[in-house]
Amino acid sequence: MEYIEKYFGRMNSPSGSSCLKGPCGDEMEFYLDIKDNKIIDIKYYTCGCDATKSCGAITAHLVKGKTLEESLCVSACEVKKNIPNLSQDHLHCSILAVSAFYRAVADYILKY
Ligand code: FES
Repeated sequence: MEYIEKYFGRMNSPSGSSCLKGPCGDEMEFYLDIKDNKIIDIKYYTCGCDATKSCGAITAHLVKGKTLEESLCVSACEVKKNIPNLSQDHLHCSILAVSAFYRAVADYILKY
């Protein structure tokens, strides 16, 4: 998937960030660069499996360029729709990805 490498990595001095551990033990990190209430850049990082990476990458792709309010409308269901081959036993990867993203937004909101 083209988005995996595009958004994979960490960020120095992000506007907001998060690290969240899922029930399976995998962790997901998000880093946001926010200007004028818009997500102008985003990175995710995980050591998890390919499904976890795909969900992080699609979450990043779906929210980039959106306002914070718009980005909070991106759901695990929308992530799943963009990864047609995501199996039922990896559905929790999409939940981890959006939850970690939401937490990074909360980090930003509480800082500014
Ligand atoms: Fe657990 Fe992907 S296998 S988050």
